[in-house]
Amino acid sequence: MCSYIINGGKKLDGEIDISGSKNASLPILAASILSSGIVKLYNIPEIEDVKITLKILEHLNCKIKRNKDKVVIDSRNMRSKPIPEELMRKLRSSVILAGALISRFKEAEFTYPGGCDIGSRPIDLHLSSFKKMGIKINEDSGIIKCKVDEIVNTVVHLDFPSVGATENIVLASVLSNSEVIIENPAMEPEIIDLCKFLNKMGAKIDGIGTNLIKIIGVKKLKDVSYTIMPDRIEAGTFLVATVITRGNVKINKVCIDDLNPILYKLEECGANIETGNNWIKIKMLKRPNKLEIKTMPYPGFPTDMQSLFGALLCTAKGTSIITETIFENRFKYTQELSRMGAKIKQEGNTIIIDGKRKLNNANVQATDLRGGVSLVLAGLCTKGITKIDKVDYILRGYENLDKKLNKLGAEIFFEV
Ligand code: UD1
Repeated sequence: MCSYIINGGKKLDGEIDISGSKNASLPILAASILSSGIVKLYNIPEIEDVKITLKILEHLNCKIKRNKDKVVIDSRNMRSKPIPEELMRKLRSSVILAGALISRFKEAEFTYPGGCDIGSRPIDLHLSSFKKMGIKINEDSGIIKCKVDEIVNTVVHLDFPSVGATENIVLASVLSNSEVIIENPAMEPEIIDLCKFLNKMGAKIDGIGTNLIKIIGVKKLKDVSYTIMPDRIEAGTFLVATVITRGNVKINKVCIDDLNPILYKLEECGANIETGNNWIKIKMLKRPNKLEIKTMPYPGFPTDMQSLFGALLCTAKGTSIITETIFENRFKYTQELSRMGAKIKQEGNTIIIDGKRKLNNANVQATDLRGGVSLVLAGLCTKGITKIDKVDYILRGYENLDKKLNKLGAEIFFEV
């Protein structure tokens, strides 16, 4: 397990480019097999979760060529075979391949996916939606086998707008003779990016980004080149990192609209924000104001930013409240922040943070991807040395986080 050593207390200053979105790359990589040809993807981040997804595609006989942010996927000789459990377990979004395999081969075999331990993360909505679409599911000893003769015309109503289930329904129905309507789908920008990519390939998906998506199945999809959207959570991370260190940073290559729920909260917190076409300038001159935050499906405040604001509010003026409504186990990082002197009390799915002027140095451990980054932010604003262990979680979702922070004047070192 790897560590970050941070010599904190430095204000971030300068300019930084945001990488491609992790949560858009993963479903789009899965979708790329649907042309049965060669697809070129740009702006794919160099992160562990992408590496694992590419390994799964190679296992399924795809040929992959990678050159920095460009990935070429040749799925002409691809075969349908079971996805090995050890790869399935490595990331949650491995389950998205099920929808893509069903679309292309009318069958898929896989086991329960893994991913960060931030809640029970069942896949019942994925499987019940598949059943509604006419897909037969046979589950035995943890192995899930899906088979379909023909997807049926249907309306799938999601009780909760699950990101993964929405992606799986879209992928499974895109190559078919039928029409599938999703009521109450997830409206996250990454879903929009996936649907735009599929429509570029020749799919017919209407209502993208609304609360009713209609997929009119097509017989074939074509080869395309596509550039993945910017990572809004990475952008959010640098925004909060600037505010927590009282810095002054220009963040380039972002999509402003996707960041609005985060920008509103940072303004409320006292940050000065200026936006352009695809950039944000953020400056913080004073101690942050307290906030009340409740995570919600998009366009609400993103659960993936919850822990980062958790770290920020430890240094705010007054008492802040954060309520987590998406994942039930996303407060583990608070115990680590407490080691740094943070005053946080948990009551059910809410935390109450009593802001302090300063945190103190400590040795802490990343508990999951975003929880790990909240510790990095706490380390950046705390004078002296903070050591964070188990940062392998962070490598799953951030491209060169340490190098990018150092470019802005931080002192953060990676230790194997
Ligand atoms: C995706 C994102 C993750 C983000 C989350 C919510 C990827 C790779 N990951 O995760 O970063 O935090 O969206 O924005 O894109 N649920 C069920 N049954 C299901 C499916 C989900 O009960 O079949 C529950 C989950 O346990 C969770 C909630 O629904 O409590 C949200 O899950 P979902 O929207 O599916 O998130 P993911 O796709 O796993």
